[in-house]
Amino acid sequence: MSIENLPSYTKTQLALRNGQDRDEIWVAYKGQIYDVGNSRLWKNGKHYEHWAGQDLTEELSDAPHTETVFDKFMVIGILTL
Ligand code: HEM
Repeated sequence: MSIENLPSYTKTQLALRNGQDRDEIWVAYKGQIYDVGNSRLWKNGKHYEHWAGQDLTEELSDAPHTETVFDKFMVIGILTL
């Protein structure tokens, strides 16, 4: 599926995928939403002091890694403003 055909989600919809309210665990980075539900490192939506269900673009600078950590995850949607 090309990126233009991906569904759009609002911040409110993303917020429900925080690993607590629903089974899905999603993280937004640079406008794209990734499904990190298979990651051991995002269990229950928590990753070190960060929570899924939000746009974590700004927070990546706190991480000891680069954005390449997203490479193995599928973009499942686009975050609408
Ligand atoms: C204090 C902040 C953070 C710490 C200490 C941390 C630490 C880590 C470590 C140790 C790994 C696994 C090793 C590696 O790939 O380098 C990892 C993977 C990852 N991190 Fe972070 N991270 C932080 C913040 C973030 C933020 C803000 C994001 C999102 C923007 C993020 C997204 C990810 C993702 C998607 C993975 C891959 C998970 C997997 O492969 O299952 N991290 N992180």
